[in-house]
Amino acid sequence: MFDLIVRGGTLPDGRVADIGIRDGRILAVERLPEGTQAGRIIDAAGDLVAPPFADAHFHMDATLSYGQPRINASGTLLEGIALWGELKAIATIDEMKARALDYCDWAVSMGLLAIRSHVDTCDPDLKGVQALLDVRAAVRDRIDLQLVAFPQDGLYRDPGALAQTLRALDMGVDVVGGIPHFERTMADGAASVRALCEIAAERGLRVDLHCDETDDPQSRHIETLAAETLRLGLQGRVAGSHLTSMHSMDNYYVSKLLPLIAEAGVAAIANPLINIVIQGRHDSFPKRRGLTRVREMRALGIPVAWGQDCVRDPWYPLGTADMLDVAFMGLHVAQMTHPEEMRACFDMVTEVPARIMGLEGYGLRPGAVASLVVLDAGDPVEALRLRATRLTVIARGRVVAETPRAEATLSVPGRPARLRRRHAAP
Ligand code: FE2
Repeated sequence: MFDLIVRGGTLPDGRVADIGIRDGRILAVERLPEGTQAGRIIDAAGDLVAPPFADAHFHMDATLSYGQPRINASGTLLEGIALWGELKAIATIDEMKARALDYCDWAVSMGLLAIRSHVDTCDPDLKGVQALLDVRAAVRDRIDLQLVAFPQDGLYRDPGALAQTLRALDMGVDVVGGIPHFERTMADGAASVRALCEIAAERGLRVDLHCDETDDPQSRHIETLAAETLRLGLQGRVAGSHLTSMHSMDNYYVSKLLPLIAEAGVAAIANPLINIVIQGRHDSFPKRRGLTRVREMRALGIPVAWGQDCVRDPWYPLGTADMLDVAFMGLHVAQMTHPEEMRACFDMVTEVPARIMGLEGYGLRPGAVASLVVLDAGDPVEALRLRATRLTVIARGRVVAETPRAEATLSVPGRPARLRRRHAAP
């Protein structure tokens, strides 16, 4: 007897299986006998059943604040940081919590059930940290929210940042963050990478730095991050986010850099929606795309995830918590249109970020946490093409969101009345 059975869905690897759930865990992934009892049976025949979406790079303290106190007129990273500085001076804990909880509702409806959010530690009162620790506890039954202590204004550039970042970690923030390209000098940036990696090594934590989010090909903090990872034995626990300078780097240098990143077991998180609108703002034409070298890193076995970064905040005016939007943009900008690459783009918003976050019990297998999503698509690539409706979202064995199937009614003589835009692969 199960609490819930998701019957007959197509898994991302193409198998057709029933998923039997009891007490918040997956007990069976197989064809169950007809007549098997359950509290509720969801018919997923013909639909894709996938593990939940995971976003390894987000800013939940800033989300849904668009226009407060003004918009980012230049569209640049630097005006966004300045604007965020104005906003955080007037933001309250309650207001940040309310915005974050609204976003978590959007995420649940989109099957996005694991989020790594950076939280600014350059506020003497650590209002964002307090707000997001409360939100992490409030959403625990539906979202794995992992927090990164992020000294937004620079570990050394802001005089209080180091002490406040340590305090945030003492309060229970999970991961060590940083922003070396925003320090005053390259030397300060490299020193910040070393210091932050040492903090993580001492405390047994993971590291995720905003790294080289610039068009400057000389911004090479990812090299220091990889070297420090090796020196301190942090392999498998470190991610570099953005890495946009790599887009503009000298090719010979990159041919030496990528094997170092692979050797160090450092993961990469690219944020295509944000990179494509923030980078290249100082260019005339040709205008750089600013996305890091995703295909080249993947070819060397470096884990690369697509992250969302921003929704309705000082850096980005759009977004709906839809990781398929993120992967769709990434697929285009990185030109990953081979069928195997498109398929990989789905993993880059599910399995890969879950691994980077070190999530326990993630996946569709017996014994795993019963969190999954039923999509109005036949396979992962069709899910990307359609940005498919999340028909049913299940978190820890409980149905937490349902959305009706997308279907148009056609009034064209001689043509079908119902249109779903599904299209089976040849
Ligand atoms: Fe970010």
